[in-house]
Amino acid sequence: MGELVMAAKITHVPSIWMSEKVEGLEGIRDFAIAGLNEIGRRAQERSVDTFVICDTHWLVNQGFHISGRKEIKGVFASNELPHMLHDMEYDYKGDPELGHLIAAQANEDGIRAICHDLEGLHAEYGTLIPMRHANKFGAKVLSLAANQFSTPEENANFGKSLLKAIEKSDRKVAFLASGSLSHAFAPNAISQGYLNNITDEFYRQVDLRVLQMWQQGLMQEFIEMLPLYAKLCCGEAAMADTGMVLGLLGWKDYQGKGEVLCDYFPSSGTGQCIVEFSLPLK
Ligand SMILES: [Fe+2]
Repeated sequence: MGELVMAAKITHVPSIWMSEKVEGLEGIRDFAIAGLNEIGRRAQERSVDTFVICDTHWLVNQGFHISGRKEIKGVFASNELPHMLHDMEYDYKGDPELGHLIAAQANEDGIRAICHDLEGLHAEYGTLIPMRHANKFGAKVLSLAANQFSTPEENANFGKSLLKAIEKSDRKVAFLASGSLSHAFAPNAISQGYLNNITDEFYRQVDLRVLQMWQQGLMQEFIEMLPLYAKLCCGEAAMADTGMVLGLLGWKDYQGKGEVLCDYFPSSGTGQCIVEFSLPLK
């Protein structure tokens, strides 16, 4: 029987890549890289077979979608921020078998979900940047799209189907919700000055309170505020990844807490974190 062995909310910002590769910016995200390495260390220790990643840069407009690619391989350049992120080589095995199982389970639960094996369907950086640091041990990689018009409840329901599918499989799975906390980019004219800043103090203060709530286990209160938080703090892909991970963990029945694995940090105006959530007791 398969098992969920990790559930985390993680950062994927291109400044992590720049920290490694751009002259003059060396080391600016060392702490985030250390947090992703820790995710990887824990995942390897728990014998993870597959990272399932809700990638908020694989934006979809209808339904739920899963990548069924067998090989995830190529050279990545970001369409959104090509000046920040390009020439990133990647090479992972996919997990189409688990992808189809997830789609079938979601369909059985009345959710429109499709697992695709399409040649032109490439991985996005919400998957690739975290995997570069957290997956150095050859685990399979399965990306899930984030529906930018979905509701928290829809994502939570998809997360519940995901858990059933994982338990029907023979995989040990680490689920990563790859997305921001607040996600307000700075206005274009001044955007270059915001590499290490938040766009408005309001966003930082709300994000910090959210992190505190997760650490304190105020998950029901967080679920209540999630729709307005996503709206007022410009949630990346409607915070679909956050709804999904909380659904996976039990949604309104979830009694766990978050463990912060790297200090909160702003990047290009947005708010970033790495938090592992405790798993529900069986
Ligand atoms: Fe992003």
